[in-house]
Amino acid sequence: MAKEHLEIDWAPYKEVKVFSLAKKYMFAVSCRLFINITDQEHVTRLSNLFSLIAAGLLSVPVNLPGTVFGHAVKGGKLINNELLALIRYRKMEFSQNKGSAQVDLLTRLLLVRDENEREMDERVVAAVITGLFIGSFDTTTSTVTSVMHYLADYPHVYSEVVREQMEIANSKGPDELLNWDDIQKMK
Ligand code: HEM
Repeated sequence: MAKEHLEIDWAPYKEVKVFSLAKKYMFAVSCRLFINITDQEHVTRLSNLFSLIAAGLLSVPVNLPGTVFGHAVKGGKLINNELLALIRYRKMEFSQNKGSAQVDLLTRLLLVRDENEREMDERVVAAVITGLFIGSFDTTTSTVTSVMHYLADYPHVYSEVVREQMEIANSKGPDELLNWDDIQKMK
C-alpha cells in the first residue's frame, strides 16, 4: 500500500501537501487493517464521516442541526450503522463458513470469546473499531508529517536516514518485504 500510495500520490508531483496525503494514506491503511475495506470510493466516504467526528471532538457540544457537533453526532450514527451492517454481514459469512480468509481486526474481534464462550456484543465491537480509527488516525498522520518536516529542516539527519534505509533496502531481495527485524534496524 505504501509503495502504491507513493507512486500515485507523491512521485508524479514536484510539490505535495504532506499532511493531507499522509492522512489519506493512514486512513486507507486503517480501513485495510481494521475492516478489510480497500475500495477507494468506500474509503473516501468513511473518511469524510470520520472527519466530521474529528471536528466534533473539539467543538461546543450543542447537538443542533447545522452545528459542528450536530454534524459529528450524525456522522457517528452513520458510521455506527455501517459498522453494524458490516459486522452482521461478516457473521453471516462465518455461519456459511466463507469468512475464514478475512484476516483483519474486525474478524479477530468477532472471534473473541469470554470465559463463558460468549461473543462480544456487536455494539461494543463497533465502538472498539470506531475508537481505534479515531485513536490511530490523527496521531500517526501528525507523526508522519512531523518526521517529514524535521527531515527537511535537518539535512544531516536526512542523509543519515537515507543511508540507513538504503543499507536495509540493499540487504533485501527485489520482492522481499520489510519485516520486524528490518524495522528494528531503523535507529
Ligand atoms: C504516533 C502515534 C500515536 C500516538 C502519539 C498515540 C498516543 C496515545 C496516548 C497519549 C494515549 C493515552 C491516552 C490517555 O490515556 O489519555 C493513547 C491511548 C491509546 N491508543 Fe494511541 N497513539 C498513537 C497511535 C495509536 C494507534 C496506531 C493505535 C491503534 C491502532 C492506538 C490505539 C490506542 C488505544 C486503544 C489507546 C487506549 C489504551 C487504553 O485502553 O488505555 N494508538 N495513545
